[in-house]
Parts: sequence; C-alpha cells; structure tokens
Amino acid sequence: MAIVSSSSGRKPPSRSEALVDPQPALEDVVTRPEDKLRPQCLDDYIGQTELKQVLGIAVEAALGRGDALDHVLFYGPPGLGKTTMAMVLAEEMGVQCKVTSAPALERPRDIVGLLVNLQPRDLLFIDEIHRLSRVAEELLYPAMEDRRLDLAVGKGTTARTRSLDLPPFTLVGATTRAGSLSSPLRDRFGLIQRLEFYGLDDLKAIVERTAGLIGLTLTPEALSSIAASCRGTPRIANRLLRRVRDVASVRGGGGSAIDQALVGEALSLHRVDHRGLDASDRRLLQLLIEHHGGGPVGLETLAAALGDDPVTLETVVEPFLLQQGLLMRTPRGRMVTDAARSHLAKAA
Ligand SMILES: Nc1ncnc2c1ncn2[C@@H]1O[C@H](COP(=O)(O)OP(=O)(O)OP(=O)(O)O)[C@@H](O)[C@H]1O
Ligand SMILES: [Mg+2]
Repeated sequence: MAIVSSSSGRKPPSRSEALVDPQPALEDVVTRPEDKLRPQCLDDYIGQTELKQVLGIAVEAALGRGDALDHVLFYGPPGLGKTTMAMVLAEEMGVQCKVTSAPALERPRDIVGLLVNLQPRDLLFIDEIHRLSRVAEELLYPAMEDRRLDLAVGKGTTARTRSLDLPPFTLVGATTRAGSLSSPLRDRFGLIQRLEFYGLDDLKAIVERTAGLIGLTLTPEALSSIAASCRGTPRIANRLLRRVRDVASVRGGGGSAIDQALVGEALSLHRVDHRGLDASDRRLLQLLIEHHGGGPVGLETLAAALGDDPVTLETVVEPFLLQQGLLMRTPRGRMVTDAARSHLAKAA
C-alpha cells in the first residue's frame, strides 16, 4: 500500500504535551514514531474485535466483487486507532491510501484535486471530517453517492455544471466528534464504526508489541502497570513506554528486563497515577469537589476555571473519566462520583 499524504493540516497538540493527553504530541507529529508503530494488517491490529470482524467481512466481500470498499466513518476518542485502521484497510484492499485532513480542504480545488487523481478502488482518508467546509462537503455528496464530480463552470448567466465520472473509491472519514457531522454526510457512509477504549489484556498486548519493536524487554508486572495507566488508549501506552525507556536508559540496568519499580518511577516523574490520571485530571475532579460540592457544574464554567477549552475538555479529557465512572454527565452539568472521591483520597 502506498500512503500519499496531501497535507500537513495536523491539529496542534493541546493540553500542553501532557503525557496522558490522547492527542498526538509534538513528538508524534514531528518525528512520526507513530507511523513506525502502526500495525499494517488486520491480524496485527490488536483488540477492537467487533470492528475487525465487520471490516474483515466488508473487505472480503468487496475483494470478491472486485469493487471498492463501501465508505467508512470511524469515530471515537483520540489515539484509539482510527487513522491506523484506515491504513490497514488500504493494505487489506491492496490499494493506495491518500491521507488528508478536513482543514487542508478549504478551497474547492483542494478536494477536486484529490478526487480527480484517484485510481480505481483507492482509499481517500479524511481526518477530522467534522471540520469539512460546506463547499467541500457538497462536492463530496455526489462523489460518494454516484461517483460523480459536479463542477461549476463559468459565472452569472453562463454558469453551468459539468460532471466528471470518478473511479470507484472509498472515502474513510475519522472524527472525535461524530455529533458534529451533518446528517447528509453521515448518511452517505455505508459503515459507521465506533472505536472503543481498550481492555487491559489488549493494552498489555499492545505494550508488548511496541516494546518488541523498539527493542525493550519488560517484566509482566511492568507491562501490566503501563497497560493500567494508559487510559485505555494505545497512543498513550506507546508514549508511556517511550518515557519508561528514557528512565531506563538513564538508570542503566545492563540490559535486564524493565521492572515495575522503574515504570513506577517514570509514572511518578510525570505525575501519572496508577489509573492513568494526570495532574490536570485530578485538578478537574478536585475543583468539582472542593469548590462545587461535587457538582453539577456546566462544561463552560469548568473549562474556564481550568483554563482549558470546552471542546477539548468534552472530547479529549472527559471520555476516559466518564468511562471509568469517575465523572457523570447530567442535564445540569458534570458531577463527580463516589469512585472519584475515593480515588483522590487514596492518591492524596
Ligand atoms: N489496535 C492497535 N494495535 C496496536 N497499536 C495501535 C492500535 N491502535 C492504535 N495503535 C497505535 O496507537 C497510535 C495512535 O493511533 P491512531 O493514530 O490510529 O489514533 P487515532 O484514533 O487516529 O487518533 P486521532 O483521533 O488523534 O487522530 C498509532 O501509532 C498506533 O501505533
Ligand atoms: Mg488519527
């Protein structure tokens, strides 16, 4: 599979490079260690069993028909493997993957340029698809539905539409904010798949795989400890592992397996606790408890108090706290749970 990237329109890292920020850190964007660690095929892609089953069948059926795979939308919190899965799909289909991101498709000619250069059955990956401009979206509707590109030619009274046929192709969209997609766009995807946080066993397998790729050996306890602290997110697991490697190389250790104590040292250096909460998560929970009697507090108020932006808080920070039962969303605002109170009491 060839990967052709048409943009550098990567979202900037937020939450000031926090170790457990599930968004790509500057390190991921600049030196691209992520690309080297991505599983290449469905068999290498760990976890997300249902997703793999659905996609495996769709790929096999499309290959059997000699047709392009149906358009696919992936949604879910950052760092769970949406981009990786798009590339895996291209590999499984034996086609080229053109990679772009919605902010890079501002002008009509950006998306037109990509569409007219597609080869039959190619995969076009659009990251952050909820940020597509209206024009880009309207060009995509007939392209997705009828493999047709409608171009406006001329101006005023002489204006007309010229249609170009496109080869069969697959649009793969990814978003952390499925709710922000317009329904005409969402309805044009044949497969809409949510990526879930990973369970402990899958995370251990991911850490073990990455450790193997970067030449580290860890004791089973050290593996479990990283798996438990990475917020169910492979990107964070890989980042924690790199920080553990830093500590290991400074401490020496003569090539022996990295143990739990060393992992613990790396985690406490970065103030990440055994459940993967970092200082800003704890600050959020503490703020709710100490200043608002546990809540409810509106998202905007919370974001303002924390100096974070509400969208980041809602799509990046909160999903894991909700999934862990540490936070609740109620119609009147966010509330902490008893589990959060006892976690903080233990951590104190
Ligand atoms: N199932 C998996 N098995 C092994 N490694 C994985 C898996 N999913 C993701 N990874 C690793 O996690 C990293 C982040 O994954 P990816 O970039 O695909 O996330 P994403 O969902 O696209 O995030 P974002 O929403 O920020 O774009 C990848 O470099 C990859 O190495
Ligand atoms: Mg991605």
